[in-house]
Amino acid sequence: MTADITHSPAALRDILRFLADAGADEALDEVAADRFAQAAPAAQRRTAAPERAAERPMPDRSPPAGRTVAPPVPPEARDERSPSLPDMAAAEALPAARPQTAAIPDEAQAARARELARSAATLEELREMLAGFDGCNLKFTAKSLVFADGNPDADLMLVGEAPGRDEDIEGLPFVGRSGQLLDRMLAAIGRDRTSAYIANVIPWRPPGNRTPTPLETEICRPFIERQIELARPKVLVCLGGPSAKTLLNTTEGILRLRGNWRVHVTASGVAIPAMPTLHPAYLLRNPAHKKLAWRDFLEVKAKLREFA
Ligand code: URA
Repeated sequence: MTADITHSPAALRDILRFLADAGADEALDEVAADRFAQAAPAAQRRTAAPERAAERPMPDRSPPAGRTVAPPVPPEARDERSPSLPDMAAAEALPAARPQTAAIPDEAQAARARELARSAATLEELREMLAGFDGCNLKFTAKSLVFADGNPDADLMLVGEAPGRDEDIEGLPFVGRSGQLLDRMLAAIGRDRTSAYIANVIPWRPPGNRTPTPLETEICRPFIERQIELARPKVLVCLGGPSAKTLLNTTEGILRLRGNWRVHVTASGVAIPAMPTLHPAYLLRNPAHKKLAWRDFLEVKAKLREFA
């Protein structure tokens, strides 16, 4: 974005704020830039104070060929993944670098994803396949593949929606504020990341934390389904509406779904009891609903006991 030098700093701030509210959360340049080429060490970035945001490198956010523009994230769906104005200002200050290309996301890519995912014999193979898969444009705007965290041999698996900024930096799911809440929720039923396996439906951070498009979700779906199949948890927890809708094949809202056992059926026909519950990011915004999630987690604890 080019600033008009006749605008005062206050007017420029208002314009930026207006653009951010309107969903224009990506500062684009003529040439795609690899902002992470100048990245600071991860630990340093993770603890960066907001006033140091202008020093932070930006991810490559130029739109790959064929990418569809998704609607802005509604305020109620935003979590710590939301973009900030300093992020946008920082993007203008940095030099351009290497352009990247991507496939056009279409049904052919979804079919390719299904075929590839089916052929993975182990979780490690699946991770490698995802790392080499170029059929989802989200890969080209993300820094990291966020595959999983925790114990793949655990009897409990939790699946969220998509990584946010912290997860993209660390390459691990649920390490930001909602991840910290998730850790507390797990601790409340006597679990931690050594006794639970954690992943997301989408393994790449959507740019600006926008909602993944239905096609992006369809392209990623075979991979998370295969991941569940290979991990073979006894109990699955769907964190939030997008996860529940994708893995339980339903269009029902999470507030109706939550608290009721459903079944996730794998491609090979294994039925896994699945508990849809509220996403930790939602709970951070709606703490009064934590009691609902608490009830759901008690259900999960009881169900796990049946398999012990
Ligand atoms: N929200 C998610 O759905 N997944 C993450 O990994 C982080 C935040």
